[in-house]
Amino acid sequence: MTQAPVNVTVTGAAGQIGYALLFRIASGQLLGQDKPVRLRLLEIPQAVKAAEGTALELEDGAFPLLAGIDIFDDAKQAFEGTNVALLVGARPRTKGMERGDLLEANGGIFKPQGEAINAGAADDVKVLVVGNPANTNALIAKAHAPDVPAERFTAMTRLDHNRAIAQLAKKLGVPVTEVKKMTIWGNHSATQYPDIFNAEVNGTSAAEAVGDQAWLENEFIPRVAKRGAEIIEARGASSAASAANAAIDHIYNWVNGTPEGDWVSMGVPSDGSYGVPEGLISSFPVVCRDGSYEIVQGLEINDFSRAKIDASVAELSEERDAVRKLGLV
Ligand code: NAD
Ligand code: LMR
Repeated sequence: MTQAPVNVTVTGAAGQIGYALLFRIASGQLLGQDKPVRLRLLEIPQAVKAAEGTALELEDGAFPLLAGIDIFDDAKQAFEGTNVALLVGARPRTKGMERGDLLEANGGIFKPQGEAINAGAADDVKVLVVGNPANTNALIAKAHAPDVPAERFTAMTRLDHNRAIAQLAKKLGVPVTEVKKMTIWGNHSATQYPDIFNAEVNGTSAAEAVGDQAWLENEFIPRVAKRGAEIIEARGASSAASAANAAIDHIYNWVNGTPEGDWVSMGVPSDGSYGVPEGLISSFPVVCRDGSYEIVQGLEINDFSRAKIDASVAELSEERDAVRKLGLV
């Protein structure tokens, strides 16, 4: 192993997603089996001890690719030299909290983290925001990192993408590997739009294979969009292992590319494609190659899809306006 380790910073490392994520990073699933990693864990002071406990377990894994673990309660230190930043820790909505309160509380986290990335991250840094509201938290972090190319700030909609593939495969009775070109548009929220009109199953139109608009509107879309709430209801806690799995998929594809003939969904700063206002961090179909991504162009958007995309993008604009009022972007 001659390569220098890749520095991977994980915030919220002592949380549920962190616990599921760190072992997979250490085993090489985030970047590839030829890439050693050095973990830099960020937690709030009260949770540093728990993160230290996880670090002991990571040591006990004797992972050949794990070159070291450092734990911080200071963002500036945690993002020093980081190549991959996974922003998982966020302020959850608690009882009596309005949406504006949530956005403000998260501003208190993602503003300083954006500043710390700007100040100290490696030139090739790639940022994935998982902590909710993920798109707007990514927008806040990006706004405070003017020296980092904007496209390096992304938000996670890969869990939604994977959920949509699984639900469609189940409906059609095909393996998930037969479903290609799934797209999640918009926000990682209940307004998101999982689009099967551009998806393919066994190389043909997924919408035609389904041929059931009622299922699409009344079952598929709400099931995917509200899956997070369904998991919370069933498990008594929000998705953790599936979210960690999606974070691994997101970064793996960004770094190593997407397979020929397929694409993935990522929340990325809009360049105005598909009428999404420039700068909003919205989910798009993207292909990744050589460590970069590009929004897939030229897809047909029918009237049904247009209305759904517009509704989710309108919600993103409202969130941006709310954090703008708070002086966060
Ligand atoms: P959790 O509460 O188990 O863990 C969060 C951790 O973040 C805690 O250990 C907390 O101490 C830490 N933290 C809080 N503020 C921090 C800060 N300023 N710096 C560093 N660490 C900080 O939550 P979880 O289940 O791991 O989920 C984390 C986030 O991911 C939540 O916001 C959740 O809603 C979100 N989520 C997103 C998706 C998605 O698809 N985008 C899916 C599932 C969960
Ligand atoms: C999910 O999609 O599972 C989560 O974003 C849900 C949540 O509110 O944490």
